[in-house]
Amino acid sequence: MAKNIFFLGKGGVGKSTSSALTALHLSQQGFNTRLVSMDPAHNQSDIFNQKFSEKFAKINENLAVKEVEINKWVQTYLKDMQSQVKRTYSYLTAFNLESYLDILKFSPGIEEYALLLAYQAIRNEEANADYIIFDMPPTALTLKFLTLPDISLTWLENLLKLRLKILEKKEIISRVKLGKKEIETDKIKRKLLQQIETYRQLQKIFRDPNQTLLNLVLNTDKLSFSESQLIVNNLKAYDMRISNIFLNKYYEGFDIKPIRQQYADYGFQILPQSDTPLLGVPKLSAYLMQIDSFISF
Ligand SMILES: Nc1ncnc2c1ncn2[C@@H]1O[C@H](COP(=O)(O)OP(=O)(O)OP(=O)(O)O)[C@@H](O)[C@H]1O
Ligand SMILES: [Mg+2]
Repeated sequence: MAKNIFFLGKGGVGKSTSSALTALHLSQQGFNTRLVSMDPAHNQSDIFNQKFSEKFAKINENLAVKEVEINKWVQTYLKDMQSQVKRTYSYLTAFNLESYLDILKFSPGIEEYALLLAYQAIRNEEANADYIIFDMPPTALTLKFLTLPDISLTWLENLLKLRLKILEKKEIISRVKLGKKEIETDKIKRKLLQQIETYRQLQKIFRDPNQTLLNLVLNTDKLSFSESQLIVNNLKAYDMRISNIFLNKYYEGFDIKPIRQQYADYGFQILPQSDTPLLGVPKLSAYLMQIDSFISF
């Protein structure tokens, strides 16, 4: 299974640049690497000087890049939900589902569900790669994305309890024995159990540093420093842990001691401020040649 590396941090700190540099570095080391932009405001096309789309485009023998089209995934999510509702809750067909779905397009929370769907598809399709690097949106949306399995599980587990109560009250037998196997006959309970299983798996993946590395990018300024602390604490509350700190736009003379002390338990990568814009493969490669060492994953 490919290792997933997420780059997160405050707006403008260099998540996209750090993702691109890491992807290029890993590909040059011979690792089969994918770089995926998950930010609705994509940056990778500008960084690589190449128009990207939903389809992976090759940069070199070991690296391919794509940009997730969030609107396409919102549509996929809504269609999927529509067919699930039709199948599982067939007594609701009297409702005009289409009109509800039209409104849902703009409902809060839909973007992170769409991103999670895109993530699952990429993770499965690119399972044979060595690394999949995800260039994430700024803090708010990324935190919603990473905590979505937990939030969804809280909902689903309560819905399941309610469903069990209903089944009990109605004295409906929801499981029948077929040989040695027990088969769930209540469609709604079955669907809830399936969804719970999916989100438990995602929760496990996000919490497991052998499968998921969360790289936090920050700069030398106070604002990015305090937002980083907020990210660390928020993730901690959901049992997720930052693996590596990327101190980007570092300049000679800046005292890194306090940051290193604060993040003593984390991997640490320094990326110096470049005098020229880091745009295009030749510039990115030249920059990589200049830096002393690159963290291994
Ligand atoms: N090490 C660096 N040296 C010089 N310029 C840099 C460096 N890293 C990033 N930049 C520049 O800083 C700006 C922001 O970088 P980037 O787009 O990578 O940040 P981001 O965190 O992805 O931003 P957003 O939150 O908007 O997606 C860009 O103009 C980029 O070229
Ligand atoms: Mg970006």
